Amino acid sequence: MGHTVGDRGESVTGAGPTLVIRGGTVVDQSGERRADVLIAEGRVAAVESRIARPRGAVVLEADGCVVAPGLVDLHTHLREPGREESETIETGTRAASLGGFTAVVAMPNTEPALDSAEAVRNVQELAVGASAHVAVAGAITVGRAGERLAPMSELAALGVRLFTDDGAGVQSAGLMRRALDYATGLGVTLAQHCEDRTLAGDGAMHEGAWSSRLGIPGMPAAAEEVMVARDIALVRALGARMHFLHLSTTGSVDLVRRAKSEGLAVTAEAAPHHFSLTDGRTADYDPVFKVNPPLRPQADVDALKAGLADGTIDAIATDHAPHAPELKDLPFDQAPPGMLGLQTALSLAISELDLPVARILALLSWQPASICGLDPVHGGDQGGAIVPGAAGNICVIDPTATWTVEASMLASRSRNSPYDGRKLTGRVRHTVFRGEPVVIDAEAQR
Ligand code: DOR
Repeated sequence: MGHTVGDRGESVTGAGPTLVIRGGTVVDQSGERRADVLIAEGRVAAVESRIARPRGAVVLEADGCVVAPGLVDLHTHLREPGREESETIETGTRAASLGGFTAVVAMPNTEPALDSAEAVRNVQELAVGASAHVAVAGAITVGRAGERLAPMSELAALGVRLFTDDGAGVQSAGLMRRALDYATGLGVTLAQHCEDRTLAGDGAMHEGAWSSRLGIPGMPAAAEEVMVARDIALVRALGARMHFLHLSTTGSVDLVRRAKSEGLAVTAEAAPHHFSLTDGRTADYDPVFKVNPPLRPQADVDALKAGLADGTIDAIATDHAPHAPELKDLPFDQAPPGMLGLQTALSLAISELDLPVARILALLSWQPASICGLDPVHGGDQGGAIVPGAAGNICVIDPTATWTVEASMLASRSRNSPYDGRKLTGRVRHTVFRGEPVVIDAEAQR
């Protein structure tokens, strides 16, 4: 199959096999219906109550399953270039497809950072032939150092739609104001990692009862909230648009809820670990529970769940952050923050959130696709309705299947899953990427 880089930075593939996804319930933005789905030459060819298998077609059984647009992750660390011992584009996108994702937004905190046209083009080329679409996020500032703006227009010309210094927040309000002005002119979105460095200091976990008991330096909830509040003020003043990465506190959810009720163009995401784990998990100093923003108390977990339920939070994003064992297995205060997320996100959402599957899919597929401009409305091929002519990006989910996470069996190069041994409900059965079955019966096909 031939692969090239398209003019929006996408990998363009040739014709795939003919597939029939049989016996499932199609769930997309337009609702729910019992239907078989025929895929030919990379596109949906028919959606009908019963489709006879054309000669030579591959049948993907979907009895009892939900057939949905592929999931879209707004927040993936692929580590290539620079940290290939922790992850590569190949292993990271394999993990993505096993988790039901047909697109991931690759964070720019690689080495070097994705702050130049050359660096972005390099990742786009490396991603040709990957198991999922890799949309590159560009850095807001050169080297993510927070001092000078990156050449955002050059990056936008390569198809970059989301810019972030993730791993760090842009500390200067003045620089952020200029960046928002440029972003508005270019029609791109800035995504902030909200963390005020003067408040976070050398904190390694949430500042509260557990950090006091354990003697680990903490970072207060306010370190996140003051930057959320600051950036909402900038959005209001400039009439700009803004996305908030991995929100983790009650105060942040409240701020975004109020901003939305004012009509401001803000969107927000939450990571599965922030709605499924609390800071108490740090009790035995295991660095697998170290992450930025840190795990928070139960009240914050509850606030995130409420925000996901009432529409304040628009997307579930993994913040998949692989770290090779030799890097991660250090004393808690020295270990790098981050945890794996791609293969467990959907199951955690089904297991932990009291929401109908269609709402969970909105949070994991079409809403994030819209935020990063990969949806059909913006000319992309992700998250759209499953109708004839649509792109063949689909995941088939068994919402009642149970499985036990085994960190050693995950496709990532790293092993830092905080869910090792945990039993989850809901499993990705098949994933189809641009018409090709990249996962069949929970097995990667490449
Ligand atoms: O825990 C985290 N890990 N948070 C971040 O913001 C960065 C990420 C990483 O790159 O490891």
